[in-house]
Amino acid sequence: MSAIVHTGSAEATQTLAARLAAFVRAGDLIVLCGDLGAGKTTFTQGFGGALGVTSPVTSPTFTLANRYEGSLIVNHLDVYRLAHIDEVADLGLAELVDDRSVTLIEWGDAIAGVLPGGYLEVRIRMGDGPDDRSLEFRVVGREWRDREAALSGLDGDGSTDAEGTTC
Ligand SMILES: Nc1ncnc2c1ncn2[C@@H]1O[C@H](COP(=O)(O)OP(=O)(O)OP(=O)(O)O)[C@@H](O)[C@H]1O
Ligand SMILES: [Mg+2]
Repeated sequence: MSAIVHTGSAEATQTLAARLAAFVRAGDLIVLCGDLGAGKTTFTQGFGGALGVTSPVTSPTFTLANRYEGSLIVNHLDVYRLAHIDEVADLGLAELVDDRSVTLIEWGDAIAGVLPGGYLEVRIRMGDGPDDRSLEFRVVGREWRDREAALSGLDGDGSTDAEGTTC
């Protein structure tokens, strides 16, 4: 199962992320994929805001991992700069993904093989106009499976396509 939602502005992507945050659970893992500047950090800002994070959510490109306090702890990682897959061990992923936190990993598809469990993949693609994006939601593993119907109900600027394809 996958669902595709279109947005036409950064704010619309943040609103969509906030809708997703409404059915997130402690221990959840979200993998954000898409090119440089696609909107992965923008998505995380909307997501964190909806969970009551008040400090500014900034790109963790140089810090690798940021941690924010909201109604849940929001871990925000960016693994773009990891040179070797064995550096993933230093991130302590298994410890981060605990029962008080939700973890979002930019470029997490690059380390999919070593993630500690199932996850929701959010793949952001550029559209025709400079502010057009499509966001594809795909459930990998069992943790998000019971929320597939809710994911299919997400909408952005009006149009949602449900598809049976994978990335
Ligand atoms: N529909 C949209 N959704 C998300 N961002 C958008 C949209 N339209 C324009 N933007 C702009 O695109 C940029 C996205 O930057 P952002 O830092 O979120 O990308 P990123 O995927 O995290 O990049 P990187 O891989 O470098 O970390 C922002 O300047 C944002 O305002
Ligand atoms: Mg980013």
